Amino acid sequence: MIKLSKRAQLLKPSATLSMAAKARQMKAGGVNVVSFATGEPDFDTPVAIREAGKRAIDEGLTRYTPSGGLPELKAAIREKLRRDEGLNYSDDEVIVTCGAKQAIFDALQVMIDPGDEVIVPAPYWVSYPEQVQLAGGTPVFLKADEGNAFKLTPSQLEKAISSRTRAIILNYPSNPTGSTYSRNELAAIAKICVERNVAIISDEIYEKLLFIDAPHVSIASAHPSARDITVVVNGVSKAYAMTGWRMGYAAGPREIISKMSAFVEQDNSGIPGFVQRACVTALTSPQDDVTRMRDEFKLRRDLMLKRLLAIPGIRCHVPDGTFYLLPNMRAYLDRNIGGRQISDATSLAEYLLESAHIATVSGDPFGAPGHIRLSYATSRENIEEGVRRLAEALAKLA
Ligand SMILES: Cc1ncc(COP(=O)(O)O)c(C=O)c1O
Repeated sequence: MIKLSKRAQLLKPSATLSMAAKARQMKAGGVNVVSFATGEPDFDTPVAIREAGKRAIDEGLTRYTPSGGLPELKAAIREKLRRDEGLNYSDDEVIVTCGAKQAIFDALQVMIDPGDEVIVPAPYWVSYPEQVQLAGGTPVFLKADEGNAFKLTPSQLEKAISSRTRAIILNYPSNPTGSTYSRNELAAIAKICVERNVAIISDEIYEKLLFIDAPHVSIASAHPSARDITVVVNGVSKAYAMTGWRMGYAAGPREIISKMSAFVEQDNSGIPGFVQRACVTALTSPQDDVTRMRDEFKLRRDLMLKRLLAIPGIRCHVPDGTFYLLPNMRAYLDRNIGGRQISDATSLAEYLLESAHIATVSGDPFGAPGHIRLSYATSRENIEEGVRRLAEALAKLA
């Protein structure tokens, strides 16, 4: 038998993807499942972007491209960062990757040695701990208080930094909490990182899905020296409904980006040229579709929250953005139904799927025990129906 590496043995499959797959399987078997498990917009990629991709194929953009990204896409990314954040990067400080996921993965590969610590505020996106471990590092979880909108405080961060701390991964707006940080909050975090020489991986993939009045701020622009220690990660998946196109990017210090380019070169040689051409259209054309989708997500957030909070015992923090809610389900844990023990969020999510045919994701793999994550990237009808089923299923536990 072929021996598996220790890395492979330690690796856990993505909890979010496996829940979505389970729901898909039930649906294929004819079960009417309402899915609140998906991590992607349910909208189609806007027409102009699709057309640009098709044209690029016909124009022959089907060969290898420079592995760090087409110059025209890098230019569009640089312009976006300048326009939105006032951040100026040169071509060799920007890299195009296979989704934001690869950007974070490669940034960690480039910065982390075995034994190094990476601070991961909890709740966190499920892939961070796995990616840190694949780089040989140790994730150090810092539990962000629900009473503080699940946000890390500067004093918490200060206390957690050790001589082994190399980096922190910040995600705002956050999957799964939906919380974002203000400029002042980011400035305070950046100041500590600058003083203690802790690199920042700033995952801003949900940037455009923000419902509050204040604009998104990148931590790289929140402190005069933050840019020098920050790798800004972003992409088109969530803002432009382009999850399947697999374009993400990173901008940061030249020495980090050039090593990340070397990783891309050895690993996948970059993403398709026609995808990159479509992404130029996404980033440079009028952003009306982004606004339209964002506004619809906000309506759905309000609808789902309203219905959810009408269920006795459920508490739910109001997210600033994304398309997730993270209700606290503790009132329904430690129950028994028909001999079945509902002891934690994972068993609750399983119960909801099997008995009420609602797909949710347990908060456990997000570092949010006692919570479930509900995605409202689905129609308002599904939201109404799914939350109705949820209320019914929970009533049986009461
Ligand atoms: C917080 C966070 N970062 C990154 C990603 C990955 O984005 P991409 O599709 O660009 O790889 C996701 C996708 O679910 C996410 O939720």
